[in-house]
Amino acid sequence: MNMMPKHSADATTVEEGLAIQEEQAKFDSKAATEVAMQNTLLTPRFYTTDFDELDAIDVTPVRDDWDKLIAQMESDPNKGHFKKNEDWDHVDWDGMDPTLRKEFIDFLISSCTAEFSGCVLYKEMKRRGNNKDITQLFQLMARDEARHAGFINDALREAGVAVNLGFLTQKKKYTYFRPKFIYYATYLSEKIGYARYITIFRHLEAHPEHRFHPIFKWFEEWCNDEFSHGEAFALLMKTDPKLTSGINVYWIKFFLTAVYATMYVRDHQRPAFHEALGVDTDWYAREVFTKTSELTKQIFPITLDIDNPRWQRGCEALQRANVQIAEGKARGGVGGWLAKTTGSAKAALAFVSLYTIPVQKHRVPASTRLEPAY
Ligand SMILES: [Fe+2]
Ligand SMILES: [Fe+2]
Repeated sequence: MNMMPKHSADATTVEEGLAIQEEQAKFDSKAATEVAMQNTLLTPRFYTTDFDELDAIDVTPVRDDWDKLIAQMESDPNKGHFKKNEDWDHVDWDGMDPTLRKEFIDFLISSCTAEFSGCVLYKEMKRRGNNKDITQLFQLMARDEARHAGFINDALREAGVAVNLGFLTQKKKYTYFRPKFIYYATYLSEKIGYARYITIFRHLEAHPEHRFHPIFKWFEEWCNDEFSHGEAFALLMKTDPKLTSGINVYWIKFFLTAVYATMYVRDHQRPAFHEALGVDTDWYAREVFTKTSELTKQIFPITLDIDNPRWQRGCEALQRANVQIAEGKARGGVGGWLAKTTGSAKAALAFVSLYTIPVQKHRVPASTRLEPAY
């Protein structure tokens, strides 16, 4: 008899994974869901796109690499992995420093929303498509993201909070992106996700005394899933050379700048979290950008010049502008509005300054495929 698995980690399809989480939704907390519902420039969003255009992709030009990647994902090395086991140490949520607790919960909610955002988009593509290659890939990626989101929700539930994923699917605002923007944004978020998780994992391997929560032990297999997802998007882009040449290079630069800058600002909002990990936030940002840039050379003909002194200055200016906007919002009234408005203008200027730093160009290899090496 085909029994329904009990945990999202054991689900073999996205539908199963979500049904299990739906069952748990009765325990989910309103406050966490409200945080996940927020739509600002810095919070993870939900996306929708032109699914017919995506469905029309022909992967014939990358068939060999494609079949290998799909076979690897089909073999499902991480089935059953994303659940608590004997390695899951007790977490003393009540004894945790309140600032750290707040920032860490914020980190978990934001990560859960981002994982679930991928899940929703991939699942929808799988549902709408007819192209066997495309629907198969998106089913596999949605399966993984449902597990990831479910596992973060397990961790949150211990702290007495959890995100109601069913509610988010129905109520959160969806941003429309043309397919090519989905490729750039999603490819980058998968690769930067890999770089973020592996950097934390390697750091904590060397400094286990800073591992203040067991979820970090799961980051290695986790980042390998994200790595595969990034590989899939690299192959999708490889099917059409126009996507990574001509005017589109300016779009690629835009997405690189936006994704890196958002990460910089968002991470600097969590100083206690990074201190607890024993990580300097600027060092961490630089590590992640360097790794991500190295990876994206597989498909993008440019990388950002993060060694240019304007890069760090621009990131810091953006960060200060962001603090000013947040303070203005909190203060309210005319003074608050003025602070918010000038803060927004400063943020826009800082972004333009970052965008206009000359890029580094390089030749893209004939084959895109990479293996996780960090
Ligand atoms: Fe994920
Ligand atoms: Fe992913």
